[in-house]
Amino acid sequence: MTIGIIGGGQLGRLLALAGYPLGLDFLFLDPSREAPAGRVAPVVHAKFTDPKILRWLSRECQVLTFDWENVSVEALRKHARGARRARFCPPVNALAVAQDRATEKRLFERLGIPTTRWRAVGSWPALERALREIGMPGVLKTRRMGYDGKGQMRIRTRDDAQRAWESLGDVPLLYEEWVPYECEVSIIGARSTRGETVVYPLNGNVHSEGVLRVTRAPFGPARWHRRAVQYLSRCLQHLHYTGVLTIEFFVRHGQLLANEMAPRVHNSGHWTIEGCATSQFENHLRAILGLPLGSTRPVGHSAMVNLIGRIPAREQLLALEGVHLHDYGKPPRPDRKLGHCTLVDASPDRRDRRARALLALVAPQVRLP
Ligand SMILES: Nc1ncnc2c1ncn2[C@@H]1O[C@H](COP(=O)(O)OP(=O)(O)O)[C@@H](O)[C@H]1O
Ligand SMILES: [Mg+2]
Repeated sequence: MTIGIIGGGQLGRLLALAGYPLGLDFLFLDPSREAPAGRVAPVVHAKFTDPKILRWLSRECQVLTFDWENVSVEALRKHARGARRARFCPPVNALAVAQDRATEKRLFERLGIPTTRWRAVGSWPALERALREIGMPGVLKTRRMGYDGKGQMRIRTRDDAQRAWESLGDVPLLYEEWVPYECEVSIIGARSTRGETVVYPLNGNVHSEGVLRVTRAPFGPARWHRRAVQYLSRCLQHLHYTGVLTIEFFVRHGQLLANEMAPRVHNSGHWTIEGCATSQFENHLRAILGLPLGSTRPVGHSAMVNLIGRIPAREQLLALEGVHLHDYGKPPRPDRKLGHCTLVDASPDRRDRRARALLALVAPQVRLP
């Protein structure tokens, strides 16, 4: 059984590593010679839209999935129309919704999921109108292709707005209110091709400069988790979703406000490898193959710390008791996600103490509230 994965980044690599014990094989498509999945599985180096390669991949594989969602939906749709082609999981329509921040927000609104106040912005006058209607501070974001805080600028003054428009204005944008949140959380769940669903405990996420630094789980009161599960279930049902889906939220006055969704396994779920009975990666594979989904029961209180820009000496990291290292094998570059570490503890306080010791080594500037 061979799974085709479009995108050979760290998420794909972690999917393959989770799939080998189940007896699965993998084939990746990624234009980059540096693709981290290349260390663990064969990678075909071609454009994501290459119709010949998509056809070939689809013949070789039982099912096609993604490690990266910004693939041309048009190319995939054209391809999916052909007879006897491998299925895409998640469905291409779900991908299309999640690729555009505006359609994503409209979906949240349509499904009664509270989200930030926002306006689509396609011109300078539209931005001026949005600034009047939404107010400042806010944030101007590209509707497409944003990740790790890229393609967004904070706006506190009209001068900021001018500068942001000059630097981002050549593509469709979205302006939204700045949310002075108490914390950020995310929910991750899976729906299988047989309609079975499972949901992981809520994640508490700490970002700096738009990049995830730390996740702790299980996180927050039970009613946050219940709400998040309701919202996630609505999206899973509505999109006839198959695979893992993630929604990120801001928590403001104890209420969940949806920020964005990711139609894939998510960085805030990396702790599930050591911290849950079944990891998000294994459950994604089970879901797209129609296998029974695995238990999402946490085995303790987990923390995940991202290794960004540099990885401290292995000796130092592994000297910390119970720390697991995942090095994605990428050439280091500033601000690049190179790996992550996790730890699990029986007590949340001890977990936090240990996570702080890990952070002191990895990213001393990041504060864990
Ligand atoms: N409207 C906002 N209010 C407050 N913080 C925000 C807002 N938008 C983004 N951020 C911060 O930037 C991070 C990244 O933004 P996000 O919209 O999730 O884009 P990305 O696709 O880069 O993850 C968020 O997790 C949050 O920390
Ligand atoms: Mg995000």
